[in-house]
Amino acid sequence: MTLQETTPEVVICDTPEEVDTYATKKLVDQMQKKPDSSLTLPTGNTPVGMYVRIVDMYKQGKIDLSKATIFSLDEYYPIESNNLNSFASFMKQNLIDHMPIGKWYIPNGEAQDATIEAERYRQLLEHYQPIDLTVLGIGPGTTCHIGFNEKGSPIDSTVRYVKLHDETRVANSKNFLSPKEIPTGGITQGISDILQAKQILVIAKGEAKAWGVKRALHGPISSDAPASFLRLHPHVTFVIDRGAAQLLS
Ligand code: PGA
Repeated sequence: MTLQETTPEVVICDTPEEVDTYATKKLVDQMQKKPDSSLTLPTGNTPVGMYVRIVDMYKQGKIDLSKATIFSLDEYYPIESNNLNSFASFMKQNLIDHMPIGKWYIPNGEAQDATIEAERYRQLLEHYQPIDLTVLGIGPGTTCHIGFNEKGSPIDSTVRYVKLHDETRVANSKNFLSPKEIPTGGITQGISDILQAKQILVIAKGEAKAWGVKRALHGPISSDAPASFLRLHPHVTFVIDRGAAQLLS
């Protein structure tokens, strides 16, 4: 794969809700164009509104995921799948349990061996590449992560077990009852897996994302800011609200 620096499209929305609407339309259009699309989808606070709208669209008969293949971007490790904070629970609660889905794959946070599980997931994903549309969030503060690709993640990284950085664990701690419960690691699609998708949509809302968005779009392309690698993809769109855009000039 020859990678060339490009200038991503940046769509600045007046409100967070407009980000949800934009991302939903992108998914609806993709599914209308190609009913058996392969998708990578994220978890987190940012995409919740998008999933609410997708479920609404399904009820109105405007989106059909029954032939889609969905890959989750990442999962904590270790974590029990039925833990309410697992990304498996998030996906079920926000999307999977609401409508027929062709196939849905997610790393198994309960697997005995994280390395073996990551390799299983890598091979599965590889089989479906290039993914038609990948939707991603971006890490808060100075994490600048995509999936669980923390600072230091190399451009050629593939699905693997990673240790979570403290900043990520703190940012994700609000849903856990005690700090001891926050998983120490995760299994994530790598930078190289993400860059293989045909199209990438990055969604970001609020001022907590402003530094990361600016760093990703205007700083050096490097492992210090994994989201900056997205500038090496020819079809990436950042859809962000005014809060997340506030440091862009
Ligand atoms: P958030 O998480 O949507 O909850 O802010 C995004 C991320 O950490 O990648």
